[in-house]
Amino acid sequence: MAENDVEQELLDYEEEEHDATQEAGGDATAQTAIKKDVKGTYVSIHSSGFRDFLLKPELLRAIVDCGFEHPSEVQHECIPQAILGMDVLCQAKSGMGKTAVFVLSTLQQLEPVSGQVGVLVMCHTRELAYQIKKEYDRFSKYMKDMQDKVAVFFGGLSIQKDMQRLKTDPPFIVVGTPGRLLALVRNKSLSLKNIKHFILDECDKMLEQLDMRKDVQEIFRTTPHEKQVMMFSATLSKEIRPVCKKFMQDPMEVYVDDETKLTLHGLMQYYVKLKDNEKNRKLFDLLDVLEFNQVVIFIKSVQRCIALCQLLVEQNFPAIAIHRAMQQETRLQNYKLFKDFEKRILVSTNLFGRGMDIERVNIVFNYDMPENSDTYLHRVARAGRFGTKGLAITFVSDENDAKILNDVQDRFEVNITELPEEIDMASYIEPDRFQ
Ligand SMILES: Nc1ncnc2c1ncn2[C@@H]1O[C@H](COP(=O)(O)OP(=O)(O)OP(=O)(O)O)[C@@H](O)[C@H]1O
Ligand SMILES: [Mg+2]
Repeated sequence: MAENDVEQELLDYEEEEHDATQEAGGDATAQTAIKKDVKGTYVSIHSSGFRDFLLKPELLRAIVDCGFEHPSEVQHECIPQAILGMDVLCQAKSGMGKTAVFVLSTLQQLEPVSGQVGVLVMCHTRELAYQIKKEYDRFSKYMKDMQDKVAVFFGGLSIQKDMQRLKTDPPFIVVGTPGRLLALVRNKSLSLKNIKHFILDECDKMLEQLDMRKDVQEIFRTTPHEKQVMMFSATLSKEIRPVCKKFMQDPMEVYVDDETKLTLHGLMQYYVKLKDNEKNRKLFDLLDVLEFNQVVIFIKSVQRCIALCQLLVEQNFPAIAIHRAMQQETRLQNYKLFKDFEKRILVSTNLFGRGMDIERVNIVFNYDMPENSDTYLHRVARAGRFGTKGLAITFVSDENDAKILNDVQDRFEVNITELPEEIDMASYIEPDRFQ
């Protein structure tokens, strides 16, 4: 909340360029008989239900509809503080429900005032902003005042439409990417002077990139001094923590200092050593033999992304691509096709590497090695969400690749072995999802 000492530095950027249990106790959410499949085998050491958080009944109802039976560890740790308005800087394992921490706690606290935006959530990619908006819709569906009051704004689509929306039907909650939001603030269509909750998801990514940080800072300076600030990521290096804290006042800090605890235990991780020109054949072979619900294939450049997707389609694989050089309409359309299970293979650059949550993804390929161990951790976590089983296969084609894989193994103390001839399907696919 100390807006004035947020550093001023930095360069210009164009947003367009960014790639950017069972617990005991608490019958909690058993308000209705609706019981969706409980994901994963996650067992929390805590024993309380969502009901113990004393949330609004409308929220509890939506939680039940979402199939959430028990809060995860991070939810248990953060929600009670967050709903009291405390600033929160939170690192927690990927796929364990950080989104619900800020969505639930802001919906719980928000007292909507007509014409005023009270909550601002920013993240690093447009698709993630879209996904977060949908989470707000999901959890606010029983809150009468909140219907259609969450708006999402990001670059690549008409700014006129955004301006129109703000004018004719002002939202209470705004989710978006910094470039577009700043443009809307600068042209005075968006006023942030009534913001009570300021949230950054994937905060390390947003603040490490100096150009994005500069936009975040400028936006931050237009918000009032008194507000709650919350930031989230699965990776929060010691270097970035003080940068995050400059935006906050006496935050509750939740870190995973023992990095081995970031490892996802439902995830089997293997590598394949091969030359770059052997990758396609190997990938096709594996896609033929492995049982997958949905697959994400990560690749290092837009060109390679386009070429690989085309090859897969030629071979009759149900593949689709997503990368930053696409028209935004196509990007969103492809995201929806994948999310709705119309396509089963997504070829992506790092664009999809963080935050994206597609329940049916059970295999991730690093067709190209990620640039560092942080990126590896985020990418592979697209499989094995909320403690479910999954498989990550990484292609290693030179010494640099091998070095990064070793970094991953050392840092997270995970044993990544060579892909065996045969893998037991039960090790990477949930029993109820056998086909
Ligand atoms: N308490 C819960 N019970 C069951 N499912 C949950 C619960 N909390 C979250 N989930 C589900 O777990 C999945 C992962 O949640 P989410 O995307 O918020 O994780 P995350 O911590 O933000 O991960 P990442 O670091 O990858 O962004 C989502 O599908 C979400 O609906
Ligand atoms: Mg997330």
